[in-house]
Amino acid sequence: MSLGIARPAAAPPVMPARPSTPVEVRPAIGEDPARIRATIARAPLFAALPINAIEDLTARVQVRKVPVGSAVVAQDEPGDAMFVIMNGRIKVVMFGESGREVTLSLLKSGDSFGEMSLFDQGPRSAHCLAIEPTTLLCLSREDLMRHMQAHPRTAVNLLGEMARRLRRADETIAQLALCDVNERLIHRLVALGREEGASGPDGLVVRRRPTQQELANMIGSCRETISRAFNQLARDGLIIPRGRSLVVTPALIERCEKKKAA
Ligand code: CMP
Repeated sequence: MSLGIARPAAAPPVMPARPSTPVEVRPAIGEDPARIRATIARAPLFAALPINAIEDLTARVQVRKVPVGSAVVAQDEPGDAMFVIMNGRIKVVMFGESGREVTLSLLKSGDSFGEMSLFDQGPRSAHCLAIEPTTLLCLSREDLMRHMQAHPRTAVNLLGEMARRLRRADETIAQLALCDVNERLIHRLVALGREEGASGPDGLVVRRRPTQQELANMIGSCRETISRAFNQLARDGLIIPRGRSLVVTPALIERCEKKKAA
């Protein structure tokens, strides 16, 4: 069974911005079941599951290691499995005709993806690319369905995850229609700080600062515009670029909250 990992022959046509690394999928032999269990137990999708449900999932998943740059899921391909990130990072992305990229989401350890096509039987809705060497738990459609029949709590959790994603997508649509680039950038930086940042003396420290091109791809803008807006926020002391990291200050968070309330 392929478990949904895109093979080189089935990869989408390569655009300039698309990853060109052929997909190399290696089953992880001898992965520690305790680590698998721990990944499942802390994944939001499997939150508050009873221990027997976690054991059931542990017995059903397979571990896969994917190198950086590979397409775990390719848009428009049929889907036969979903994934939970054990470690590493995945970017959910769509490409326009010209190869221009829009980043839908950045996923980290514990996050899951690849479930949509298992439920609506449609093709994969987006590309999911490894942006770091990544280890995944793969759960086939068949195993997911069997598991949910025995443990309906997982289906409820899945609905919760999908509702959260729809909520985020609604927010993005509203921002694209109603906010200028500056406001969208502030909102995105504050969200990054909240999702990935650790508390520091000057604010929330995002360990890996996204590049200006990555920020542009996240908020539907171009690098030049983001560069100007980003540098202005830094001059105003609202963000502090520090080496490869970025500090999101309480002043930026306050400004974002005020805008929301206005
Ligand atoms: P699927 O359509 O099977 O394959 C692509 C996956 O990308 C999809 O399932 C979701 O898991 C994920 N995905 C699609 N759109 C979004 C989004 N807007 N935010 C986060 N994840 C998404």
